[in-house]
Amino acid sequence: MDLLLDTPLDMHLHLREGEMLGLVAPFSAAQFAGGVVMPNLVQPVDSLERVRAYRAAIAATCGTTGFAPYMTLFFRDYTSQDLAEVKDEIIGVKLYPAGITTQSEAGVRDFDRIGATVALLEELDIPLLVHGETGGFVMEREQEFLKVYQWLAETFPRLRLVMEHITTAAAIEFLDRFDQVAATVTLHHLLITLDDIAGGLLRQDIFCKPIAKTPRDRDALRQAVLAGHPRLMFGSDSAPHPRHKKERLGCAAGVFSAPVALPALAELFVEAGCAEHLPAFVSANARSFYRIEPPAKTVRLEPIAWRVPDRYGEVTPFLAGKTIGWGVKAPHPSQF
Ligand code: DOR
Ligand code: ZN
Repeated sequence: MDLLLDTPLDMHLHLREGEMLGLVAPFSAAQFAGGVVMPNLVQPVDSLERVRAYRAAIAATCGTTGFAPYMTLFFRDYTSQDLAEVKDEIIGVKLYPAGITTQSEAGVRDFDRIGATVALLEELDIPLLVHGETGGFVMEREQEFLKVYQWLAETFPRLRLVMEHITTAAAIEFLDRFDQVAATVTLHHLLITLDDIAGGLLRQDIFCKPIAKTPRDRDALRQAVLAGHPRLMFGSDSAPHPRHKKERLGCAAGVFSAPVALPALAELFVEAGCAEHLPAFVSANARSFYRIEPPAKTVRLEPIAWRVPDRYGEVTPFLAGKTIGWGVKAPHPSQF
């Protein structure tokens, strides 16, 4: 039986710019009603002008109907006037610890100094989206960062806080302690562990930040998502890099999952007998947390075997060469 998804949303997405934007954005625009667009461009999106220019570039690629690009602003010190001006044009502000991932050098170096800007976000009711990792041991970075999340949640109790791309059982436990906190979960962190990346021949295509963790962590994420946790939202963290940046010494972090996200989620939820919880994960939970009304769009998934292409242009997609038991009807931009 086909599966109909009402207004699917991708609440964490890297669309890039230039040629890469043209290659990858049509996949998201075809399959989703909206997406939260990350601001970590080469020049971070950190002003109203940059938000507008980036939105215009996305609209030029995807059109202005059928897909809502929910823009984010790169966290730095802002005045109340800066934020008041940009508030209606963004869905939130995205905080990166400096240097923690791709193009995050302009991120936060000293967390003791962010309080004033965070207080303004709370006052203006602008959500704060956080890449929650310390600079510690790679497998412990997310868990170590929970103390920052705790400080944020306790010091700014009215702030709508999003823990982005959570990967650990500890993060799930933390989420349950604070009602005003939500989290995004990626497809790849529901499917893989560190073993898939480094347990055999090294796999650049699935190397990402935060790194995938242990089977226990993956199972805790799965369990919470499949049980219909009301504050877990799908965010693919689809992060394309061209092959020459992946297949070299010093591989860029990021998994390009936009083309496979909905079919693979359908497979996961249906096989687990939890298909009734998929609509909340890919749409309703986000609509209620962010209070958004995306353009109406129904996406039809059909149970057919679909072999994921080895490449889209210069980018290797997640699950390349694998066969998924579901496909999106009329899913792909015409060039593929
Ligand atoms: O793996 C990742 N890639 N994690 C991030 O946080 C950023 C992203 C990117 O922009 O490539
Ligand atoms: Zn990301």
